[in-house]
Amino acid sequence: MQSKRHRHYALVPAAGAGSRMGKEIPKQYLDLLGEPLLRHTLRTLCQAPMIDRVYVVLSVGDPIWNERDWSDLGEKLHPLYVGGASRADSVLNGLRAIRGDAGDGDWILVHDAARPCLAQWHIDTLISTLDDDEVGGILAVPVADTLKRSNGHGRVEKTVPRDSLWQAQTPQMFRYIMLRRALETAREVTDEASAIEAAGLHPRLVQGDTTNLKVTYPLDLHLAEWILKNREA
Ligand code: CTP
Ligand code: MG
Repeated sequence: MQSKRHRHYALVPAAGAGSRMGKEIPKQYLDLLGEPLLRHTLRTLCQAPMIDRVYVVLSVGDPIWNERDWSDLGEKLHPLYVGGASRADSVLNGLRAIRGDAGDGDWILVHDAARPCLAQWHIDTLISTLDDDEVGGILAVPVADTLKRSNGHGRVEKTVPRDSLWQAQTPQMFRYIMLRRALETAREVTDEASAIEAAGLHPRLVQGDTTNLKVTYPLDLHLAEWILKNREA
């Protein structure tokens, strides 16, 4: 199998401040079912048989990481203290830090620290769908609600057809060199796929589900707790 020659590395941006959460510590360290939110995210990635290594991008001088014990997650886990001012900067700094470890053709799965409900089947589906893909792609879900564009004054300007609209999630999976070059060129992006798109390529949409939510506001933490609890049961 040709695809076996390329390794799969997870890169987890975890250098954000969590300002919309409004808590004293960044949301990646908030308690979720008795452990830091970030631990749920990292455990799933470390347990994925197809993933060879898990790099977590922390802010420079992150004071909390070392206060916790992560050793049970095993040898795959590698912290990198190279976080940047934006998510894209954190990802690019992480990619630069692993230059040499990651070969040009190796796959990088960028996954938000703030998505702790990632399941093994999400990872399996993404990797098995994309392993022979020329471009790579992202986990995403078709938009379910009817969408309205505002006129800027609290009224509907128009209804936006939702037929071909998807919500982007992570992991987003691209080859190391393609992703690094794309992010070096397109700096003002909110996800990796946007940088690849700016290079004129079309990332594949791989359907996941809404349990892979991003924890942004306090309510999301309760939803994540419910999802993880009911998955265990
Ligand atoms: N992130 C990062 N470096 C940054 C900003 C964000 O590594 N400079 C990470 C976050 O830690 C998170 C992911 O990118 O895991 C998604 O970002 P977001 O949900 O926006 O997290 P925050 O930026 O921390 O939250 P907020 O925007 O509310 O401040
Ligand atoms: Mg942010």
